[in-house]
Amino acid sequence: MDKYASVFQGTAFTSKSRREIDILRDHLFCVNDAGVIERVIAPGAADYERIRAEQEASGRFRRLAPGQYLLPGFVDLHVHAPQWAQSGTALDIPLYDWLNTYTFPLEARFADLGFARTVYEDLVSALLANGTTTALYFATIHKESSLLLAEICAAKGQRGLIGKVVMDDPEQNPDYYRDADTKTALEDTEAFILAVKRLAESAKQGVYPVVTPRFIPSCTDEALKGLGELAAKHDTHIQSHCSESDWAHGYVKDRFGKHDAFALHDFGLLTDKSVMAHCNFLDEDDAALFARTGTAIGHCPISNAYFANSVIPIARWLDRGVEVGLGSDLSGGFSPSLFDNARQAVMSSRMLEDGVNPALPASERGVPESRLTIDEAFYLATAGGGESLSLPVGRLAEGYAWDAQIVDVTVPGAKLPIFGEEEPLHDVFQKILYLSRPENIREVWVQGEKVHSRS
Ligand code: GUN
Ligand code: FE
Repeated sequence: MDKYASVFQGTAFTSKSRREIDILRDHLFCVNDAGVIERVIAPGAADYERIRAEQEASGRFRRLAPGQYLLPGFVDLHVHAPQWAQSGTALDIPLYDWLNTYTFPLEARFADLGFARTVYEDLVSALLANGTTTALYFATIHKESSLLLAEICAAKGQRGLIGKVVMDDPEQNPDYYRDADTKTALEDTEAFILAVKRLAESAKQGVYPVVTPRFIPSCTDEALKGLGELAAKHDTHIQSHCSESDWAHGYVKDRFGKHDAFALHDFGLLTDKSVMAHCNFLDEDDAALFARTGTAIGHCPISNAYFANSVIPIARWLDRGVEVGLGSDLSGGFSPSLFDNARQAVMSSRMLEDGVNPALPASERGVPESRLTIDEAFYLATAGGGESLSLPVGRLAEGYAWDAQIVDVTVPGAKLPIFGEEEPLHDVFQKILYLSRPENIREVWVQGEKVHSRS
């Protein structure tokens, strides 16, 4: 007799591939003790009724109410956890000024563990409430409060990948906010990696240490090289910013005579477990290098609208075989919601592909191969993020973690415009993506455990 830790009966939407949405009407999702989806059973299958009856008798069964739908939890590939404290502010100045005037003074305050706990607990809860079940975080330069963020993810049940940020170059970083020296930066990073790996032993959903040079301008060559070696030695994920803005991209060209992608590669920082945020100034050679090394782009469409001075042709890089997921870039992006970022990904791509500059001739409109559909943006927010991290998350399919959000389209005050039973399910899906708000996310599950509910 099959006995599952829990079985959910309901209609789910999940990405089969970049462009294909699997619509699983009234399926059974059988979750085992490890929090993994062991079977997905379609109505009409031989054992559908038997398993449903057995699970119902054992009390480990949940049938979704009318108007409720299952989506995979979101994977946010780029969050600056400390910047939650300034979300929505100071977005009208260029990146370089924003970092020095607002961001570095704020991040320096995370030496204070009390302040760090207040902000980090609030952030992790807010992300879960927005359906984000896996997050790739930049913390700060501080080893202790970065570890605290990992502990908070572990305690709240979120799958967190966390980096202690490295900024060791005394020429480029303010004295009040940088690593003491290169040796300390590398020692702290290694100690942090080991501490998170110990913590991971008791976190069912997984917490992971991430090697995190902030971006090339903040690091010495020696630190970049040492970080590449630490990532290889401990088999960790790697994250950084790559070719984000005119200024950052130009700085790396001046220093190394090449683009960020090739400079990062020289230091061993582009691997199958690397995620590079932004990447707005990638060219064809850079993209080919990403595809060859398995490096993913963390696409941050809201942030890019403010800081990047560009729109990235994401569809083209997907066509070239580059892995891509979605990132909020809190607080360069103001919204903790990947619903919001998915919407912006589509809108930005449409403006890039079809946009007209009235000052230019009509023949010079738009950039071909740029357009994303909302189905593709959903893929980026879920399965694309899981593939970028090389983790079995982001799909409601056999072998994947039970990371799910239950979205209710009937919530009073946040009801979606769905009338009658006959609406095609793909239309329901698109309405959920464009119109749902946090109020519609009734429950969130990570690795088989309920981590958020809204009554
Ligand atoms: N480049 C280096 N640091 C940052 C940061 O905190 N946010 C963004 N958007 N870009 C960066
Ligand atoms: Fe960023």
